[in-house]
Amino acid sequence: MCGIVGYIGKKEIKNILLNGLKELEYRGYDSAGIAIIQNENMQVFKAVGKLENLERKTKNFKTEGFGIGIGHTRWATHGKPTELNAHPHLGKFSYVVHNGIIENYKELKESLEKKGYQFVSQTDTETIIHLFEENYKKSNDAFKAFKETIAKLKGAFAILLLTKAEPNTIFFAKNGSPLILGKNDENEIFFASSDAPLIGHAKEIVYLEDGEYGYANEKEIRIFRNSKAIEIKFSPLTDDKEFAQKGGYRFFMEKEIYEQSRVVSETIMGRVTQDSIDFDEFDESFFENIENIKICACGTSYHAGLASAYLFERLAKIPCSVEIASEFRYKEPLLNKNTLFIVISQSGETADTLEALKIAKKAGLRTLAVCNVDNSSIVRLADTTVLTRAGIEKGVASTKAFATQMMVLWMLVLYLANLRKNIDKNVFEKEIDAILHTPKILVVKNHLHEKIKRLSKRYLHGHGFFYIGRDLFFPLALEGALKLKEISYLHAEGYPAGEMKHGPIALADPELFTIALMPKNILYEKIKSNVEELSARDSTILAISPYEFELADDFIKTADYNHPMLEFFEMMLIVQLLALEIAVRLGNDVDMPRNLAKSVTVE
Ligand code: G6P
Repeated sequence: MCGIVGYIGKKEIKNILLNGLKELEYRGYDSAGIAIIQNENMQVFKAVGKLENLERKTKNFKTEGFGIGIGHTRWATHGKPTELNAHPHLGKFSYVVHNGIIENYKELKESLEKKGYQFVSQTDTETIIHLFEENYKKSNDAFKAFKETIAKLKGAFAILLLTKAEPNTIFFAKNGSPLILGKNDENEIFFASSDAPLIGHAKEIVYLEDGEYGYANEKEIRIFRNSKAIEIKFSPLTDDKEFAQKGGYRFFMEKEIYEQSRVVSETIMGRVTQDSIDFDEFDESFFENIENIKICACGTSYHAGLASAYLFERLAKIPCSVEIASEFRYKEPLLNKNTLFIVISQSGETADTLEALKIAKKAGLRTLAVCNVDNSSIVRLADTTVLTRAGIEKGVASTKAFATQMMVLWMLVLYLANLRKNIDKNVFEKEIDAILHTPKILVVKNHLHEKIKRLSKRYLHGHGFFYIGRDLFFPLALEGALKLKEISYLHAEGYPAGEMKHGPIALADPELFTIALMPKNILYEKIKSNVEELSARDSTILAISPYEFELADDFIKTADYNHPMLEFFEMMLIVQLLALEIAVRLGNDVDMPRNLAKSVTVE
């Protein structure tokens, strides 16, 4: 989500770092910073907002001769996008940049504070630098101190650290967040969190594996795993920048579908343990006297809201209604002060959702935003926000934002269910198990993607698609249909399966494609009858289910999970990939479909 770069060499360090960060800016841009050590002098610059602010700030700064440097572009997860929260974070004689989330930062911070360390930021990252300096005090050995520091960290990280104690060396570590090391024939060494910044600079690269750490300086590069030095196998680097930014995927949308497993783990990180759910963003008193919930959103975010309403009522036993923001704002809604008003928005800038939020605030409701962009208009206005931590989403058709919104809402449901003592301990534990299992389900399996690629050729024409589902899977059907229409320009509708007989079934014929979401854990027999009715009228059926369905023309078999949300996430992946592959076959611009915008800031 954030981006990091590092450099060791004789070229102008500031330019190398800033140009590298520019390549990563698409990953996050609420603040940026660089730190450089040259001739034992340390320099640090940070600026809030886009990278150009940092460029302006460093205009008169230049380096000559050998030096080392690190840089970071940030996408806030802990703490607001301020200069103090921007990386690099500093101790007394060292600097660190970090990508990921340190889950146990609170414990580490407490114990460091007891030892007299003062924290100036609200970030999890700052703990790393104080912990390093504390360890260094004991041994006067920078690498040993770094190793001991890494061993204490739980969570995901890619870390670059500079210290005056070893002014020619960059220390690095990777666990769960990407980190690449590159070199060339001019004895220069580069680091970056994706390969785009390395193109044109490094000749050979090595992708670090989880659990690896080490150090690099002009004389040597050493990488360790389990305290043992490993043999470093460099491979040549592509020179295609666009390809590198997309991480080798054909489209950003495809890359974002594949990223879902990782970003959903980040959504969960630090918020869920084996037996509890906790949010830093609010405490129990925020929900005092709340009697019901109203959710407002647009597009994909609205679908996440709709799906979560089933969970709020079923698990937390709180009445929940969901409205499209553009409808809500003019209906002269009757609002009650004991309603919790939730807005959901990827961008935090959608005009209709923002307006709905203003109405709720004016009526004195408590407001909570589920949002992906910190410091956006919606985040600034809402009483509190849970950030979804999806990172920048480039594809106009939203995928990973939806997955992370669903995860946040599901966690919120369970938090409230627990708070209101409306959930049995066993049920709660099962839900937590399912939450923790979700990132695994979101890993795209090669055979599944290949199957969908092959299948897609049968679905390029016809007079329409009906995505059907029941309960939770009805909003997912809406989302599947929306994905398809956004990027394929084919007509698709999502419909509650039980409602087909009240009209739409009149359309059924072989040219009508039914995409049937048939999970095992919710109303399987009911939806089966609904699909049989369509099959009897000759509609072409693609069934998505863990159970074989003999009347289907095409069938995608899902895993036999014992939790509806696990089925939900697996089917979500399938409908996203299906839309993608149909659009690709039709030759459409998947990332920038016609007539659409990523962020709709007009009515
Ligand atoms: C636009 C986008 C959709 C998005 C909707 C709501 O229409 O194309 O993908 O779902 O806006 O955006 P938000 O940023 O509020 O989630």
